[in-house]
Amino acid sequence: MTNTVMVEKAKVSKINEVDFDNLPFGSVYSDHMLVCDYKDGKWNAPKIMPYQPLTLDPSAKIFHYGQSIFEGMKAYKDDEGSIWLFRPLENFKRLNKSAKRIAIPELPEEYFMEGLTTLLQLDSDWIPQNPGSSLYVRPFILASGTGFHASPADEYKFIIACAPSGAYFSGKVRVLIEENYSRAANGGVGYAKAGGNYAGQFYPTQLAIDKGYNQVIWTDDNTHEYIEEAGAMNIFVRINDTLITGPTSDRILDGITRKSILDIAEDEGIATEVRKISVTEVVEAAKNGSLKEMFGAGTAAVVSPIAGFGYKETDYDLPELTNSYASLLKKRITDIQYNRAEDKFGWRYKV
Ligand code: PLP
Ligand code: COI
Repeated sequence: MTNTVMVEKAKVSKINEVDFDNLPFGSVYSDHMLVCDYKDGKWNAPKIMPYQPLTLDPSAKIFHYGQSIFEGMKAYKDDEGSIWLFRPLENFKRLNKSAKRIAIPELPEEYFMEGLTTLLQLDSDWIPQNPGSSLYVRPFILASGTGFHASPADEYKFIIACAPSGAYFSGKVRVLIEENYSRAANGGVGYAKAGGNYAGQFYPTQLAIDKGYNQVIWTDDNTHEYIEEAGAMNIFVRINDTLITGPTSDRILDGITRKSILDIAEDEGIATEVRKISVTEVVEAAKNGSLKEMFGAGTAAVVSPIAGFGYKETDYDLPELTNSYASLLKKRITDIQYNRAEDKFGWRYKV
């Protein structure tokens, strides 16, 4: 494969300004970014340039109609300094699945993969080796084409920006099971990683934060009787010894961490079920003690144990287990991601 990515290097690096021992999540950015333009009916070869602001016309359709999609990935560095990605082709495929639903032209695989690997090699010093840290990688596409007509843009930008990052959640995670608002509707865009899916969550999530929770667990929009997913992660529930997660649908993001966790759990001999989980079942299990664990799974969240949940003005606490599935599964998946263990599934990708 010939590399088609043009590179303009930053004159000065900002890396010395970063405190790698105290990394927030996603708020300091590496020296370079990748930009790939869609114009005249085709995607043009990607360019890497110093990280910088964009210039967009006020009538760009991203501002008016929210035509934007994104992905979330992480790059890991092992003890020898080699760089690894986790199942990057899954992110590529999901980006194009989102693109199709939001009427954005699909991106060629080589622009995604070559662009990504060239960018990571160039900014490799930005990949933290501190425990629990990684380089969060944010590929996204926005409609830069102009016009107030409510129709798809004719120009787009595919960008990759990177942020050395620590944990997504600080401290214990408490969630509120939502009974009024909905994240996604049947036939809607819930399965796409569309910017608007997140904007729509901010207000109800803020109401939950004001009550002392970190995230909302969304329920189905039809009945609000079944647990779907959280704002930034898929949800697993352990009842007695069985690990359960809801089925994906057109309302739920088909999480790469979720499906990897299911495979690892099966490999560990843990009984798993993919089926609808009713809120009543979870509340009853919390009351009778059979609800042993709940955790979120996602690229940013990794495996985040849930300490308790609220539902209809009542709070339920989960037990603190010494040998939780969450800690076992988190160790297994991060050992693969950081190249600390054998990768029998073939998920690790060397950059
Ligand atoms: N659900 C939502 C709404 C998300 O934003 C994410 C994060 O990407 C996930 C689930 C988990 O998906 P993945 O494991 O592919 O990161
Ligand atoms: C990710 O886990 O990569 C996500 O995209 C979640 C995000 C909203 C932080």
